[in-house]
Amino acid sequence: MIEFELNGTKQRLDVDESMPLLWALRDVLKQKGTKFGCGKGLCGACTVHINGQPMRSCSLPISSVQGLKVTTIEGLSKDASHPVQQAWTELNVAQCGYCQSGQMMSAAALLEKVKQPSEQDIVKAMQGNICRCGTYPRIKQAIKLAADLAVEVK
Ligand code: FES
Ligand code: FES
Repeated sequence: MIEFELNGTKQRLDVDESMPLLWALRDVLKQKGTKFGCGKGLCGACTVHINGQPMRSCSLPISSVQGLKVTTIEGLSKDASHPVQQAWTELNVAQCGYCQSGQMMSAAALLEKVKQPSEQDIVKAMQGNICRCGTYPRIKQAIKLAADLAVEVK
C-alpha cells in the first residue's frame, strides 16, 4: 500500500510498487493534466512537484513518493489564481498546449526558489522542458510576468 498526499488530499493506493507515478496519476487517480510525452525523462511533459521539487513523474516508481507531497497542475491553485497561471493566460502562451502543464510546473518551482529570476536562471530551470510548438519566447516572458505578479500579490 502506497500512501502519499496529492494536491493536499491523502491517497492510499494498492498498486504495483514499480508503477510509474505518471501512470498512477493519470490512469488510477484520473488526474489528466500531467501529460505523457517521451516516457523516458527527456521532455518534461510529465513534470510534477514532489515536496516542492520539480520531478519527472514518468521516471519515478510510485513507491518513491511514499509519505511525500505530490502536486500536479490541478493543485497549483483552486481557481487558476497562481501567478504562473495568470501570466500564461495573459500572454496566451500555449499553442497546442501539450507541454504546457509541465512547463508551468517547472516555472512555478523556479519562482518558489528564485523570486526574480535572471534570464540565465530561467534558461537553466526550463532547459529540460521541450515544446514542439516552439513557444519558448512566450514562456520566458510569462515567467518574468509571473515573477512581477507574485510581487504585486504580496
Ligand atoms: S514523459 Fe516524462 S519526461 Fe517525457
Ligand atoms: S505548446 Fe505544443 S508542444 Fe508546447
